[in-house]
Amino acid sequence: MEARKAAGSLIIMTEIVLPNDTNVFGNLMGGRLMYWMDIAAALSAQKHCNAPVVTASVDNISFENPIKLGNAVHIEAKVTRAFNSSMEVHLKVWGEDMTQQYKYKSNEAYYTFVALDPNRKPRPVPQLVVETDEEKKLFDGALRRRQLRLILGGKMKPDDAVELKALFFKD
Ligand SMILES: CC(C)(COP(=O)(O)OP(=O)(O)OC[C@H]1O[C@@H](n2cnc3c(N)ncnc32)[C@H](O)[C@@H]1OP(=O)(O)O)[C@@H](O)C(=O)NCCC(=O)NCCS
Repeated sequence: MEARKAAGSLIIMTEIVLPNDTNVFGNLMGGRLMYWMDIAAALSAQKHCNAPVVTASVDNISFENPIKLGNAVHIEAKVTRAFNSSMEVHLKVWGEDMTQQYKYKSNEAYYTFVALDPNRKPRPVPQLVVETDEEKKLFDGALRRRQLRLILGGKMKPDDAVELKALFFKD
């Protein structure tokens, strides 16, 4: 299977915050934003592997700034690393007040997707080719993040997380 460039997985989604998307403070509800992020990230993963994918996990998300009613929401999603059947996708989210021409960061997050075959079993995905400095940095950190989320998900023993342990223990 031929490796593919990270740039090829880029998805840019823009939405507008309507009254039905808001909480009682008139800001975008976190759940609605996570729903849009899930769609953008799934499209990015599918673009990379050209196969149907399911969300395997979502890392912790901190909302830095609320996005206000009537503002635009910009979501950028790109695959950071492909493993066997899974792919990590990095998301960046901004709000934009178009009347004031003011753009502000809302949050960043990592989602993990698994590609499935017609029998709904995990299937291999193409490896990722990284080119820019940011892509290389995200690629390098992806193994540690994967080990941490697999430990938290009960899928890996902490003792097996070699890359992660190396951060804390020196020989
Ligand atoms: C995700 C899922 C396909 C994994 O299936 P599984 O039987 O555990 O498969 P495996 O143990 O062989 O793991 C397959 C891949 O999933 C990854 N994976 C499993 N659990 C994971 C988790 N909690 N976080 C991140 N990746 C995970 C594994 O690391 C593995 O990746 P790799 O092939 O790149 O090494 C399965 O748990 C599933 O279908 N979950 C429900 C998905 C879903 O419905 N999402 C929408 C939520 S409503």
